[in-house]
Order: sequence, then structure tokens, then C-alpha cells
Amino acid sequence: MKASLQKDIQKAAVILQQGGLVAVPTETVYGLGADASNPDALRKIFRAKQRPMDHPLIVHLGNVAQLPHWAREIPEKAVILAKNFWPGPLTLILKKADHVSDLVTGNQDTIGLRVPNHSVALALLNEFGSGIAAPSANRFGRISPTTVDAVRDELGNTVDLILDGGQCEVGVESTIVDVTGDHPVILRPGMITAKQIKDALHESVLTMKKNAPRVSGSHEMHYAPLTKTRLMNKQELEKFLQQATQLDLPFAVMSFSQYTTSAHIVKMPADPQAYAHELYCVLRELDKQNFRQIIVETVPENNEWDAIRDRLQRASYS
Ligand code: TXA
Ligand code: MG
Repeated sequence: MKASLQKDIQKAAVILQQGGLVAVPTETVYGLGADASNPDALRKIFRAKQRPMDHPLIVHLGNVAQLPHWAREIPEKAVILAKNFWPGPLTLILKKADHVSDLVTGNQDTIGLRVPNHSVALALLNEFGSGIAAPSANRFGRISPTTVDAVRDELGNTVDLILDGGQCEVGVESTIVDVTGDHPVILRPGMITAKQIKDALHESVLTMKKNAPRVSGSHEMHYAPLTKTRLMNKQELEKFLQQATQLDLPFAVMSFSQYTTSAHIVKMPADPQAYAHELYCVLRELDKQNFRQIIVETVPENNEWDAIRDRLQRASYS
């Protein structure tokens, strides 16, 4: 790690200790971090994001040994998932410890916890020594940032320091699994799939129906670009491209194939990991241009695409 980045991490830890806000790169998306034990600092997160106060925050930890400080019950399931997937893009919902602020939990009895897999985030957590509450570093309802430029676009000078960790490797938010009940429940799909969780636990995993309460990301319209976004399957898309003329409103297409057309086509990767890595960058870039519509080809129906399908459905909700 470069000396200048190391210096910035030290500076960031001091800012957190003093109750300030730091944008932190993680492997999923950039987070807007504050000291999870400082209510005044937590309030700043909600102000900067214009986020409703009852939406709970994920607390990021430097290692699994810190878990008992934040959660009062740690079921065997949680231990297994932490062993298998931490550090990594998985958030566990557990019963909260008594001292945890209502600002973190959105007045619930549970807390979301994860150990991120990013050298800069881990170095900061290590330097700071305690939990960092961090929602995605975007204004409420907008696409999560996966680059430093995107963080600047979203939050500008409402954050005291932005740590540069490059483009986020995974590119979509963590899988959230509630392990407080009899069966694990996926509250938000991510790139760790239901099957991977099922295989690790040797038990079936439930998936939360869309639009259930409690998870802010489960509001239908979330992660939305400003430009109207529509989903089409391959046949619909091909028909649309044949019929659309130059005179039509300018539109952009995100598809798996390249087409000979005057339309602006972004060819997306056929591999789900690579697709997720690019998704928010492409949407953000297209959103900045003067397209009247973004048309996205639907993605495969299988498990590995769950997180991407979920985010595309939200982006295209109208
Ligand atoms: O990948 C990620 O999870 C990123 C990075 C920064 O770690 N963070 C992220 O945070 O996506 P945010 O705030 O944008 O989304 C966190 C989600 C919200 O939908 C929130 O409702 C849910 O986690 N959540 C947090 N605590 C919860 C709890 N106790 N019960 C249920 N849902 C919870
Ligand atoms: Mg978010």
C-alpha cells in the first residue's frame, strides 16, 4: 500500500474518532462510514444521505472476534457463515447487544454486521479499532457508488474524507442473511448466492418476498437511475431495435450481443461476476448522458444472477 494512502487511512481513523464521516471503499460498493458507537456521528450519515431515520445501518468490523461486542446471541449458523464467507460480501442479521444505538438498528432488536474484504477498509477498521456503521455512499434511493468519482458525484463535500480504493471488485451490495430465526432468510440477494449459503449450512434457505419491510433496499424503487430504464428480453429487444428509427427518442441499450444499429449499445459481460462488477458504472455513465431511455436486456433466470436481476428490477421500476 502506498505511503500516501496509509497516511489517509490514519487521518480517516482520527476523523472517525472525532465524529466525522469518511467514505470507505469495500469490495461491494463504497460506504459512508461513521463511528457506530457515536450517535451524533450516526445522525450525520442520515443527513448526508437524506435517508429516513428508521432505516438500519450495517456495522463493519475488522474481524470476527469483535462479533460478541455487537451481537448478544451468536447462533451456530452465524459462526459457520462467518467462517465461510468473511471477510466478504455477506451481512449477518443478529440480535443486537444492549449498548447498540437505535440509530444503527432503526429501533429494531437486531443488527446487521459484516467484515468487508478490502485492504483499505480492513486497514481502517484495524486502525480505528471499533465498528464502523456504513450505508452505501449514495443519496437515498440512488445507485450505489463503486468508484471515487461516483462518491464525489453523490456526496461531494458532505463527507470529511474519501479514501481511494479503486473500483469495487464485486460491484453490487452484500447478500443480507437473517440468522435470528429457525431458518436463515435472505433479505437482499448479493453475489454470495442462496445456493452457497445453503451448501455451507446444509439446510434450506428462505428468500424474502419482494417489498417486505425493514430492508431499505427492498423498497421496489431503489438503486434507480434518473433516466427511465426498461427491461426487455432478447426477442423484445431485437424487435424494438428493428422498429426504432433515427427519429425516435435517443436511447441506450445494455445487452449481451452487439447489434448493427445506430443505437448506443453497451455490450455487457456474459459472466455474472463481471456483469456485477460493471453494472453500476455503466448505469451511472449512461444516466449522465442525454438518453431518454436505458433499455436493459433481461439476464438469465438462475441463482447466480439473482442479485443482478434484483437490482435491474429496482432500477426499472416505475
Ligand atoms: O455491501 C454492502 O452491504 C454495502 C457496503 C458499504 O458494506 N452497504 C450497504 O448499506 O449496502 P445500505 O445501508 O445501503 O444497505 C444496508 C441494508 C439496508 O437495506 C438495511 O435496511 C439493511 O441493510 N439492514 C441493516 N440492518 C438491518 C437489520 N437489523 N435488519 C434488517 N435489515 C437491516
Ligand atoms: Mg444503499
